[in-house]
Amino acid sequence: MSSQDLESLDVEGIRQQFPILQREFDGQQVVYLDNAATTQTPDPVVDAMSDYYRQYNANVHRGIHHLSQEASIAYEEAHDRVAEFINADGREEVIFTKNTTESENLLAYSWGLNELEPGDEIVLTEMEHHASLVTWQQIGKRTGADVKYIRIDDSGRLDMDHARDLITDDTEIVSAVHVSNTLGTVNPVGELTDLAHEHGALSFIDGAQAVPNRPVDVEEIGADFYAFSGHKMAGPTGIGVLYGKQELLEDMEPYLYGGGMIRKVTFEESTWGELPWKFEPGTPPIAEAVGLHAAVDWLEDIGMDRIRAHEQELAAYAYDRLDAEGDVEIYGPEAGSDRGGLVSFNLEGVHAHDLTSILNDHTVAVRAGDHCTQPLHDKLGVPASTRASFYVYNTREEVDKLVAALDDARQLFA
Ligand SMILES: Cc1ncc(COP(=O)(O)O)c(C=O)c1O
Repeated sequence: MSSQDLESLDVEGIRQQFPILQREFDGQQVVYLDNAATTQTPDPVVDAMSDYYRQYNANVHRGIHHLSQEASIAYEEAHDRVAEFINADGREEVIFTKNTTESENLLAYSWGLNELEPGDEIVLTEMEHHASLVTWQQIGKRTGADVKYIRIDDSGRLDMDHARDLITDDTEIVSAVHVSNTLGTVNPVGELTDLAHEHGALSFIDGAQAVPNRPVDVEEIGADFYAFSGHKMAGPTGIGVLYGKQELLEDMEPYLYGGGMIRKVTFEESTWGELPWKFEPGTPPIAEAVGLHAAVDWLEDIGMDRIRAHEQELAAYAYDRLDAEGDVEIYGPEAGSDRGGLVSFNLEGVHAHDLTSILNDHTVAVRAGDHCTQPLHDKLGVPASTRASFYVYNTREEVDKLVAALDDARQLFA
């Protein structure tokens, strides 16, 4: 894509599709920079879900009546659209869950509990989100498998020499975050997957901060499993995705049981239905699937390359502006490198929670805390950080407002 194409992104036009961005508190328009937690939802996504409830709300699994037929088709087609979006082979490889966290738990319970035993190793990175870190830690405790962590270096990148030492024939799975939600680091997930495969291990990639913000091709990465959430990609809450290679999913036991996932049930025995329904028991998130389909259409209309370029440009701008302040410590790789669209930082002498509260007085919405990466914050030597995270509707002027508000914090606390 040429730089002119990238520049032609109509941010103002995009913003018009988000009434929430026009909201004011105390006469100041909201500056929403908390997109790594959840993104805002554009009108076409809200309209698609509203249309579902107004026009064809019914339970799925192919009821005989018209409304159920329509709802079932829409629900199934949402799987097809997501499969196409991430270049999976088909709907069989796309399981709808509640969110990334549930996707990780599905894999850990369904595969991990059944396959792991003492002597096996689970290799994570030091920058994992609690969604995977806590889950694998618990599965390790229950199965006797050891959990090991690939170190990060001083620049906030993975130490790949350490990765090569750590991933051995004892490794059963390598679980890595694609883009760190705290550091913004973009990990070499294809290389990690290759390393896992060289040792007969599987790979699981947490794509919660990648799929919303950059083109993702699961086939190119080669990952065995890949997870993400609808609410971080202009879609609704209540829906997430677990991608898995079909042959692996075929061999896995369901993690939840109930209606809609069976083939045959007797008083003694049950057998399971086809993929992906085998992993989707009970009434699924139908309206949310319709919304996720609309979100994927919306994102692809803009273009994932352009979304990535816009966010990288904003993150680099924010990084440089914050860095120039002199009393701001920024975590993760430097601006200009391939980086996710977020910046985590601390202002000298001011606790992240105090800073975030002062920013809120200026109607700048950012997040303070450990961002579900407590061990990483321990390693950074800070209890918390403030994180500004960007999406396709954010502007440089909004970054300027964030930086300008730092002065208030200095006056109050420094
Ligand atoms: C990298 C990463 N993984 C997992 C999650 C968990 O996502 P969810 O809360 O949608 O399950 C998040 C959310 O912040 C995240 O940033």
